Amino acid sequence: MSARLVVLVSGAGTNLQALLDACADPAYGARITAVGADRDGIEGLARAGRAGVPTFVTRLKDHDTRDGWDAALTEAVAGHAPDLVVSAGFMKLLGKRFLDRFAGRVINTHPALLPSFPGTQAARDALDHGVKVTGCTAHFVDAGVDTGPIIAQRAVPVLDDDDEDSLHERIKAAERPLLVETVGRLVREGWTIESRKVRIG
Ligand code: GAR
Repeated sequence: MSARLVVLVSGAGTNLQALLDACADPAYGARITAVGADRDGIEGLARAGRAGVPTFVTRLKDHDTRDGWDAALTEAVAGHAPDLVVSAGFMKLLGKRFLDRFAGRVINTHPALLPSFPGTQAARDALDHGVKVTGCTAHFVDAGVDTGPIIAQRAVPVLDDDDEDSLHERIKAAERPLLVETVGRLVREGWTIESRKVRIG
């Protein structure tokens, strides 16, 4: 049986597309049972629709409190019974209820070599800092901002004439195969985490 993935997106969804493409091969070991978003009208949802994958939208502004939004998102995701939740460009912090419910089964892809440049503007922050190498990180999600145990990382050079877009695109070109490889290995081989150190297989 292939593992059930729920993927959360907020934008273009190119990482989601890479996972959709990978899941087309039964040997990959996973299938996407639903795609969730925190906003309407994004290409990520359109990609899911074209692939015939169910979608749902849970908007913060439809709830009186952040806790209420957290509860709604938790129920929406739980309804699709995921083995693994993949945050792929989901630009909101997941709440306590969500992380308790899916404890140890939520991963995120981040466009920097964590613990450098956490947050929502990682490519811009790396450029502003003047680093010569940045990259991408697949990590488990904990209650902090991009602080959870690191699963895999890939380095990407920063070029002299980069702007935020050119750097982020180069990072994303490395990020998509890293995410596909990481999710595939996790679901096929299993994993352990001991004092932050993630071991696959
Ligand atoms: C990716 O680079 C992802 O790492 C980043 O948003 C991009 C989404 O691209 N996420 C964050 O910055 C989260 N802090 P995509 O929508 O084309 O997959």
